[in-house]
Order: sequence, then structure tokens, then C-alpha cells
Amino acid sequence: MELRHLRYFVAVVEEQSFTKAAERLFIAQPPLSRQIQNLEAELGVQLFERGSRPLLTTEAGQFFYQHALKLLSNAEEIKTMTQRVGLVQQTMTMGFVGSLLYGLLPNIVYLFRQQHPNLKIELVEMNTKDQIDALKEGRIDVGFGRLRISDPAVRRVLLREEPLMVAVHSGHRFAQQKQGVYLSDIVDEHLFLYPNYNKPNFSTQVRALFSEYGLDPKNINEIREIQLALGLVAAGEGVCVVPASARTINLSHLNYIPLLDDAAVSPIFLAHRSMDEGEHIRSLFDCIYQVYDLEAIRYDRAVF
Ligand code: BEZ
Repeated sequence: MELRHLRYFVAVVEEQSFTKAAERLFIAQPPLSRQIQNLEAELGVQLFERGSRPLLTTEAGQFFYQHALKLLSNAEEIKTMTQRVGLVQQTMTMGFVGSLLYGLLPNIVYLFRQQHPNLKIELVEMNTKDQIDALKEGRIDVGFGRLRISDPAVRRVLLREEPLMVAVHSGHRFAQQKQGVYLSDIVDEHLFLYPNYNKPNFSTQVRALFSEYGLDPKNINEIREIQLALGLVAAGEGVCVVPASARTINLSHLNYIPLLDDAAVSPIFLAHRSMDEGEHIRSLFDCIYQVYDLEAIRYDRAVF
């Protein structure tokens, strides 16, 4: 006996007619009559009074009808509850490098949450290298980072190249140079790099950038994190290269000047498991591009 048989039986009882029940069920009458006969044969009892017009149930038929209703309603409940549990329990865990919090990460995550109210979204700060392990071990579903780390199990997509700037004190000779400066202009400055842990990291990237232009800054201090480095700049102790989004850190006497060298950019990547191109990952890309469009940011759309 299947749920289908119960639905057929209930329709016949409620319509008191095979013809009307068949219409309600959108099936032909002969197969409906056959299914009810099969049901009676399987139960070994008569469910309808033979020859009654309108069609009446036997005592056994009435008993079966009450229980069939309960079973059908239970089945419907199980279906909706299971769907709800499935929706509530879907989780997307995102790894991210700390510096992205000063840029578009909060906007993107907020918009994504609004677009997926039933998806549980978790954020975990971790460096790009740890994101690769976390992706492979299933601890995160996507990772946002700045380093080009490759792994066959992970697909890394370049979202955009964020321009770099140099933070200087408002009294610094470059503070009013609004059009920008070159790396060669700041190579002899007291330079703060951050962070000073978990290499390779953003400080590795800035060192590599100077080398790319054949520059060798000598007066360097590595600082634990960006807020501390910018605090020291605001105190007039030196200068610091930062992604443009760090401009949201607004300390008094802190000026941000564009870096004019072509390679003075920091890439932003989204990484996910190569095999995982599910609906939520695609929708996250769409959400990122929506924010880029709103902010008039240039990008190349990822191809799936
Ligand atoms: C961005 O600033 O482009 C960005 C930040 C976090 C996640 C994705 C994109």
C-alpha cells in the first residue's frame, strides 16, 4: 500500500463518486476503480457498500478513512518539517583575511544574508594559507584572501586588484601630494609593514612589490596589525603601505596618498573547493558583483 492509494481512497469517500473523484485527482476513472479494487484485495475487506448511490463506505471503510486522513496529514507534516530543517541547517562558513573587513566584506556579507535569510552564515578570520587547509577539511566553504596560493583541490578566482596607498602623517612632506607618489619616493622612509605573523602575508607582498621595482627599503619595522601600524603613522613615526579600503580607518592626522606604480595593487581572491560549484557559491559571486556595480568597481566576471 502506498500513500497514493490512500489519496485515491480519501477522494472517493469525500466525493461519494468514482467519476467526481477521478476528476478531482486528474486521472481516468477505470484506473481509479482498479486501484481501489487492489486496495480492497490487499486489505481483504470491502471498503464501499456495493451498488450504493451516492457511494457509501462500509464500517471498515469509515475506520480506514479516519486513519488514512491522519496518515496523509502526518506525511505532509513530515515533508514540510524536513524541508524547514534542511533550510535552517544549511550553513556557509566564510574564511577571510582581517584586512578585508575594512573594505567591502561587511557590505557583501550583509547583502548575501538578506538574499539568503534561511542560510546560516558564519565568518572566521584566518590567513590565506590556512584557508586552503580549512577548505579541504570542510571547515569553511569559501575563503577570501590576498595571496596566490595554488592547490589542485581548490579553485581560486581573482575578484579584483585593489589599489594600494601610502598612509602618512598630515605634517609629512607627501601629505598634500594628492595625485600620489611612487614606491621609489618612499623607499628611504621609516616603513611600517604588517602583520608580523603567519607568513606569507600582506607584509611579504609589500616587500615583493619593492623588489619588483629593484628597490630595497632598509628602514623597516614589522608591526603586529594594521591598527597599530596606522597609529604609529598618526604619531608621525613613519609611513605604511595599505590597501585603499583601509582609508575607512580614520585617525586624526592620517592622510592616504595613492601609489602610482602600475604593480601597486593587492589582489583579492575567492577560493572554494573545486568540486563545489553549488547554487550558494554562484549566488555569492553574483552578490559580490552587485556590490562592485554599486561601488563602480572594475572587475572581470568569473566563468563557470
Ligand atoms: C573586495 O573588497 O573586493 C572584497 C572583500 C571581501 C570579499 C570579497 C570582495
